Amino acid sequence: MCGIFAYLNYLTPKSRHEVLELLLNGLKRLEYRGYDSTGVAIDSPQTSDIVMVKRCGKVKVLEDAINEHFSGKEYDEPVLTHVGIAHTRWATHGVPCETNSHPQRSDDENSFVVVHNGIVTNYKDVKTFLEKRGYVFESDTDTEVIAKLVHHLWKKHPGYSFRELVEQVIQQLEGAFAIAIKSKHFPGECVASRRGSPLLVGIKTKTRLSTDHIPILYGKDEKSPQTCEKDTEAAKAKVLPRTESTSEFMPLEEKEVEYFFASDASAVIEHTNRVIYLEDDDVAAVRDGTLSIHRLKKCLDDPHAREITTLKMEIQQIMKGNYDYFMLKEIFEQPESVVNTMRGRVRFDSKSVVLGGIKEFIPEIKRCRRLMLIGCGTSYHSAVATRQLLEELTELPVMVELASDFLDRNTPIFRDDVCFFISQSGETADSLMALRYCKQRGALIVGITNTVGSSICRESHCGVHINAGPEIGVASTKAYTSQFISLVMFALVMSEDRLSLQQRRLEIIQALYELPERIRQVLKLDSQVQELAKDLFQHKSLLIMGRGYNFATCLEGALKVKELTYMHSEGIMAGELKHGPLALIDDRMPVMMIVLRDPVYIKCINALQQVTSRKGCPIIICEEGDEETKSYSSRSLEIPRTVDCLQGILTVIPMQLLSYHIAVLRGCDVDCPRNLAKSVTVE
Ligand code: UD1
Ligand code: GLU
Ligand code: MG
Repeated sequence: MCGIFAYLNYLTPKSRHEVLELLLNGLKRLEYRGYDSTGVAIDSPQTSDIVMVKRCGKVKVLEDAINEHFSGKEYDEPVLTHVGIAHTRWATHGVPCETNSHPQRSDDENSFVVVHNGIVTNYKDVKTFLEKRGYVFESDTDTEVIAKLVHHLWKKHPGYSFRELVEQVIQQLEGAFAIAIKSKHFPGECVASRRGSPLLVGIKTKTRLSTDHIPILYGKDEKSPQTCEKDTEAAKAKVLPRTESTSEFMPLEEKEVEYFFASDASAVIEHTNRVIYLEDDDVAAVRDGTLSIHRLKKCLDDPHAREITTLKMEIQQIMKGNYDYFMLKEIFEQPESVVNTMRGRVRFDSKSVVLGGIKEFIPEIKRCRRLMLIGCGTSYHSAVATRQLLEELTELPVMVELASDFLDRNTPIFRDDVCFFISQSGETADSLMALRYCKQRGALIVGITNTVGSSICRESHCGVHINAGPEIGVASTKAYTSQFISLVMFALVMSEDRLSLQQRRLEIIQALYELPERIRQVLKLDSQVQELAKDLFQHKSLLIMGRGYNFATCLEGALKVKELTYMHSEGIMAGELKHGPLALIDDRMPVMMIVLRDPVYIKCINALQQVTSRKGCPIIICEEGDEETKSYSSRSLEIPRTVDCLQGILTVIPMQLLSYHIAVLRGCDVDCPRNLAKSVTVE
């Protein structure tokens, strides 16, 4: 999955150069999502054709190619109305190369060109269908079938509108997608749709918008490409009966208007803060400057309109500020982001915790049979990190699951289960699939997400927004600590009326109060961590050991090292050492060990001794002033003391910093690690 950015100007003159600059800028804003190739399509200044430029590699490479290709004077002439589409691709079908880059096209004449995020799972069948009708495919992508299928339908049904064609097409597609399509046969028009992948429309007008809703126009249509009707007037009427009283619900008509289609808000926020988040199977079409949203069928409680949301996000929020990388900025933001997660929820004066998003569901949750925490990658680690506390404070069985494995196993789920889905983006495909699986089986679905309006947020019964602010770096940092705190707050809410747990709760609430200051103290270790990174960056491997409340830090630390530095790293449960991993230890193997003064301290010291007696020389993360533990090694990092169940927040920060510094020393792209994407919306 990666990025879609399309731009349509209506009666707002722009030169092609300006359009291209806008498109490139949009792609740059989406770069953080990870991608391997790029492309744009605009109208040719000489003919009615569409011209495309596609490149492998970064947006910068595309920019250079565009400067070379589109240099003539004719590119400076303003055009009244124009549609440009652009894409960053994260290859799923076919290697990254120019031919496989998007836009993908219908034919040699570029009649229809499409940009697509996601995967069309039935593309083979559609391809066979089209090949039988004479279409010759040039790329290895699944996407190409979309462009060719629109073309096929257009030839078959010359009277159909662009929007009707796309409606027909998406009915034939299975899998996940967000698409934007442009056509030389429908100049000045753009049609976009989504199913499973995010897509929004940004609207920019000179004057205040005349409405804050876009009506949804519903139409019944059982046609398939094979059986499409010839009578286009009748077909049109069938596709789009104006159901609602049109005076109340008119499509958005503005005189001078610009529209943006983008995978996320960060790409449009510098142009407009008025956006509509499209829902699955919405078809958004702009024609004659008018935006309308269509759906094929109306179900009982489907809404009449899509709301135009005003984004509160500030452009600065998504900029790097004085930091070299978003990741570093986000690591250093943690003293504030944890406060934002707790704001309005943890009341330090009355020592109480309220989670507005799940308050009403607490009685139901308390009656459940078990809690399931489901996520992928870092989000999964936040579940591992808080499991013990949840077990302690809820006195319920707590299962922690990787979404993909959970689905592979067809895990039994019951009506009295409560399933938590943890995802920064709220769009993680594996987690979303698992969510739907559990929802179907009647479980209560609770989302823990950072993204208001995301799929997980919408499809969950209730949930908690972690409010960490936009996270741009592909490697998650502040979202992890905020997910962690959200789950801790949930545990506190669940134990509110347990007398026997009051002392424990007070201790945790006090520690939450002190947490931002403790995090600031840990961040002061930065230069020390940087020195350690110099010792480590040329090694092949790094083992990270710990147990109890700190095991999750080992897993998360190792994941950070892997994803950012491409070095091998493994988080090892210290209790498992003698069951295998001890064989890895010698005087050269880099090892980090987390040894804090908590209930498993003695066991950690045992592990430490097992390592040092094999000539291992671990770097120890220990508590401030713990001379005894420090004496086991010449290298250590001292972190401030906090309550045992929150230690994981403080111990993970040196690991975030360490992976960052190693990555910089190894010359890796910190914000966009190779082969990775910010939100993984493919299974
Ligand atoms: C809400 C407001 C917040 C306001 C506060 C004041 C939003 C997004 N939040 O915060 O701006 O300051 O009230 O009382 O408007 N939800 C899900 N799934 C998820 C996450 C959330 O369904 O994954 C739902 C919740 O159940 C809730 C809504 O989204 O209905 C908002 O959740 P959240 O922002 O966590 O609620 P509050 O903290 O109460
Ligand atoms: N599946 C498409 C491809 O491989 C789109 C991938 C993406 O989301 O960028 O070309
Ligand atoms: Mg919801």
